[in-house]
Amino acid sequence: MNTLRIGAAIAACAMLTLTACGSDDEGGSSSGSGGGEVEVFTWWAEGSEKAGLDALVKVFDEQHPDQKFVNGAVAGGAGSDAKNVLASRLQTNDPPDTFQAHAGAELTDYINNGQIEDLSSMYEDEGWNDVFPQALLDRLTSDGKIYSVPSNIHRANVVWANTQVLEDAGLDPKATYDSMDDWFAALDKVEAAGKIPLSIATDWTQVNLLETVLIADLGAEGYNGLWDGSTDWAGSEVGDALDDYAKLFSYTNKDRQSLDWPDATQLVIDGDAAFNVMGDWAVAAFDEQKKVLDKDYVAFPVPGNDGIFDFLADSFVLPVGAPNPDGTEAWLQTVASAEGQEAFNAAKGSIPANTEADTSSFGPYQQTAIEDYAQDEIVSSLAHGAAAPIAWLTDITSAVAKFGANQDVDELQDGLAEAAEKNAQ
Ligand code: GAL
Repeated sequence: MNTLRIGAAIAACAMLTLTACGSDDEGGSSSGSGGGEVEVFTWWAEGSEKAGLDALVKVFDEQHPDQKFVNGAVAGGAGSDAKNVLASRLQTNDPPDTFQAHAGAELTDYINNGQIEDLSSMYEDEGWNDVFPQALLDRLTSDGKIYSVPSNIHRANVVWANTQVLEDAGLDPKATYDSMDDWFAALDKVEAAGKIPLSIATDWTQVNLLETVLIADLGAEGYNGLWDGSTDWAGSEVGDALDDYAKLFSYTNKDRQSLDWPDATQLVIDGDAAFNVMGDWAVAAFDEQKKVLDKDYVAFPVPGNDGIFDFLADSFVLPVGAPNPDGTEAWLQTVASAEGQEAFNAAKGSIPANTEADTSSFGPYQQTAIEDYAQDEIVSSLAHGAAAPIAWLTDITSAVAKFGANQDVDELQDGLAEAAEKNAQ
């Protein structure tokens, strides 16, 4: 047993059940030796997200029959509810055995708060430094240590559209749009045809849309500058981007606050709306409807985002004080394995982080994502924890939510500038 596991096990024995205390895991056994329950905390509670988790659990059950998966999922897209529940559990020393955390700034939060263990020695023992792309390892690393195991790579800046609705509005479904202005002209046509031009859901999906507009209008460099202080949130470039965001927002459905992302994509699938901007976890629902009802869809990078991959990765951690650290280790092994990544990502719409996974059977959208990830410029998603710490994202989300209620662009920019001043390091 290495030091991190000893530390976690002692903490667990001091506070919690006997499950983990009796285990003696000598030197990186592949299944953990004590057995027990492994509570896996995610927000993958429904639909394609749950299908992805289920596929991963199936591999876990095969690889580690002595461990029992316990589903600790809390529903709500992008962890909108799960993150609060997790924060209070961590605060009261009641961690699950593992939880989902985004690579990048969000992970750094948990590291800085001393809530997760260093997994560097496990990376060495398991050879993981050789199977994950270096750029991804860099985003998981803090002060030379690695704290989580990535399950996937998602793209957040994708437009999904209903082919039939586009045709009915006189639009060419094969068209893509170079700029926001080009897209507005298309959105006008959909509006004239009596459909919702752009479907959207609750606050976090609005943040997701906003980040893609910032990428479009500021470019990759300007967008990156928002997070390192070199782009001025109060400046005229951001102001112009926010005008575009406001215009896009005017094309959206009014019941947005009562919807989560699957409802907004469903509006497109059902033919009530033409376009939706969402991460590529949406692809499973579109593929399913295509298979079952032969409903055709198109997917392309958000206008102005071509050549830029708005990146995020889910990863799993070993919380300090996890009740069953051997079980956590077993889970992390399955998450990292080529087999686990193939099963999980095929269902989830993401692409494997493990470069040894076989993606030959993945669908056409995922093949484009694999190609784009290899050649595009990579930027970090805001809505999905890669770009900014949780506190900053929370303040941005409040400003965006206020805008949703009052549609006041100046107030939105003030709110965003204040959030940057308060949170930027
Ligand atoms: C993201 C997460 C994805 C997907 C999405 C919608 O934050 O990384 O895996 O679950 O939320 O819930």
